[in-house]
Amino acid sequence: MPQKRYIDLRSDTVTRPSPGMRKAIFEAEVGDDVLGDDPTVKRLEIMVATLLGKEEAVYVPSGTMGNQVALKSLTSPGEEVILDVGSHIYNNEAGAASALSGLQLHPIKGERGILSSVQILQEIRPLNIHHPQTALVVLENTHNSAGGTIYPLEVIQDVHKVAKEHNLKMHLDGARLWNASVATGIPLKEYAKYFDSVSVCLSKGLGAPIGSVVSGNPEFIKRARRNRKMFGGGMRQVGIIAAAGIYAVENNIERLADDHKNAKILAEALAKLEGINIDMETVQTNMVIFEIKDEKKDAFWLVEKLKENDILTLASGKKKMRLVTHLDVNEEDIQKTIEVFERVFKQ
Ligand SMILES: Cc1ncc(COP(=O)(O)O)c(C=O)c1O
Repeated sequence: MPQKRYIDLRSDTVTRPSPGMRKAIFEAEVGDDVLGDDPTVKRLEIMVATLLGKEEAVYVPSGTMGNQVALKSLTSPGEEVILDVGSHIYNNEAGAASALSGLQLHPIKGERGILSSVQILQEIRPLNIHHPQTALVVLENTHNSAGGTIYPLEVIQDVHKVAKEHNLKMHLDGARLWNASVATGIPLKEYAKYFDSVSVCLSKGLGAPIGSVVSGNPEFIKRARRNRKMFGGGMRQVGIIAAAGIYAVENNIERLADDHKNAKILAEALAKLEGINIDMETVQTNMVIFEIKDEKKDAFWLVEKLKENDILTLASGKKKMRLVTHLDVNEEDIQKTIEVFERVFKQ
């Protein structure tokens, strides 16, 4: 039976493989990747490393594993990691940094998710046997919980300067770095060059069913491969999904501009509604976060109302919602969503 079609704005992770992607999966050449034998995985790793201007890369099953493999490969237990308080690593990776790598996370509140070099400088621990040693700075670009906001390149450059002066490593959670690059026109490698490791996801806006890639120099990748194995992420004939990743990189980067346009159209329409509060400054890529001002309405009520109209959404708090555009949502869907919002908020 065909699946019922919803306008699914819960996340850009909900996309289903297109016919072209399924064909690439069907035709994939495979081998045992733990033994280094899978030609499709190798192709994907080289492709992503080249795009990011890094020497090597390693394929992992998820963005979470990509981040955690990078953290473990760049630090020692007992060290401290500076990151934004709203970051995915701090809030949404089940405490893995402390559980798997013995790290202490040191969160700071950025402006719309963006940390400045001045803020970071203030939080670097002085050398003293009482303190955990600051070892790593993590930035998230685009920043998910801030609404898909983009790190200005100058800010990254300033943070890099401070980090290097203090002998700190830098990791980029670039789950949606593709979106930042398409929105600004800044090449991926220009963003990536300030980081010791960069993790990117294939299963968000790019529409692959599974997979992320972590990149860095050969010494880092050697450690990352070992840590991936330790975390249970060594995979066998995995070219079967890496082929989807290659298809995604070859076909679905430029079209992210459509998702950004749709998010803007949606945000501008919602901003006109009495009961909704949107900080338009946060609408930079494929997300729209907003608050419900109306005292009598809340996000759980709205999720139900939208679902009655075949629109799927998630509440991110009692009064807060995040809508995400992606390749399975077209402009017509956006217009329908706007009409439903207008109707529901008039009630
Ligand atoms: C910024 C960011 N990093 C990492 C991840 C983790 O990706 P995964 O769900 O593949 O583990 C996500 C997931 O949404 C994310 O938004």
